[in-house]
Amino acid sequence: MIHISIEKAAEILKRNGIVAIPTETVYGLAGNALNETAVAKIFAAKERPFFDPLIVHIAEFGELENLAAEIPQNAKLLAEKFWPGPLTLVLPKKERVPDLTTGGLSTVAVRMPKKQITRDLIKLAGFPLAAPSANMFQHLSPTNAEHVAEQLSGRIDGIVDGGVCEIGIESTVVGFENALPVIYRPGAVTYEMIAEISQLDKSVGNASPGMLEKHYSPNTSLCLELPGEVPPNSGLLAFGELPANANGFAKIFNLSQNANPTEAAANLYGMLHKLDSCGLDKIFATLLPETGLGNAINDRLLKARGIA
Ligand code: TXA
Ligand code: MG
Repeated sequence: MIHISIEKAAEILKRNGIVAIPTETVYGLAGNALNETAVAKIFAAKERPFFDPLIVHIAEFGELENLAAEIPQNAKLLAEKFWPGPLTLVLPKKERVPDLTTGGLSTVAVRMPKKQITRDLIKLAGFPLAAPSANMFQHLSPTNAEHVAEQLSGRIDGIVDGGVCEIGIESTVVGFENALPVIYRPGAVTYEMIAEISQLDKSVGNASPGMLEKHYSPNTSLCLELPGEVPPNSGLLAFGELPANANGFAKIFNLSQNANPTEAAANLYGMLHKLDSCGLDKIFATLLPETGLGNAINDRLLKARGIA
């Protein structure tokens, strides 16, 4: 895989190429959000279906006006509080945003990432960057440059190595129903944090297109209940204190020995990647308490398992 500087990446992007870029959440596969040729290459490289819309990344709040036809007051408040950061806002789109970018929807998802080199790259390119997570469709999201290379080598024009993603799970996706925020995908900007700013519409969880039931998947089968008797060649993805039968597992990774959800989020995909490459027959994991980041981690674990 070719590692490139942000200057080189900007050059490639200007020629409608596609490059993997670091962000504080997960690595993204970026192309010019306003150019259909570039966006089509993103879908092709990931083998992603066209109905699954992309997130458009900007470097400054002012760029939002070029993309969104309307910015509700609550969207402004959330952006003020959480941008730059792991929050994506879904807003009515302007005509200049290609239908291909938004999966044919009349809305566009926009995020201002926190990571400085990501915003530096957007500025160098001179246009907003469409960037889904830099993995093959329905596979594990990448949290370092090696993860990207494993899945996308030979399919993309280069990768900007920005080290390990600090947050480790994808941004919170928020839309607006009757002017109230609705969480389409939980993330590091939690329900509780949003509730401090505005009342939420709770009715429409997971209504986002692309929120397919199976997603973020390891190849090894994943079970979210711990076994009484541990089957041979099983792995454990633990959280906090180990279970009494921990000795029976062939491999154990602990998301956070101190049961800290922030640390667990940062470790989630990396540890799933590692467990997945151990040749195990089954991976066992436990769900976290359903508050704050625990919600977002459980959402990814359920999708990794596939909701039966
Ligand atoms: O943290 C992140 O959000 C990462 C980094 C790279 O920024 N990106 C990411 O993109 O996770 P992706 O493509 O894996 O997930 C984007 C999801 C879509 O699957 C869809 O559910 C939602 O965002 N989305 C995008 N546009 C939308 C729209 N117009 N309406 C509703 N949901 C939308
Ligand atoms: Mg993704």
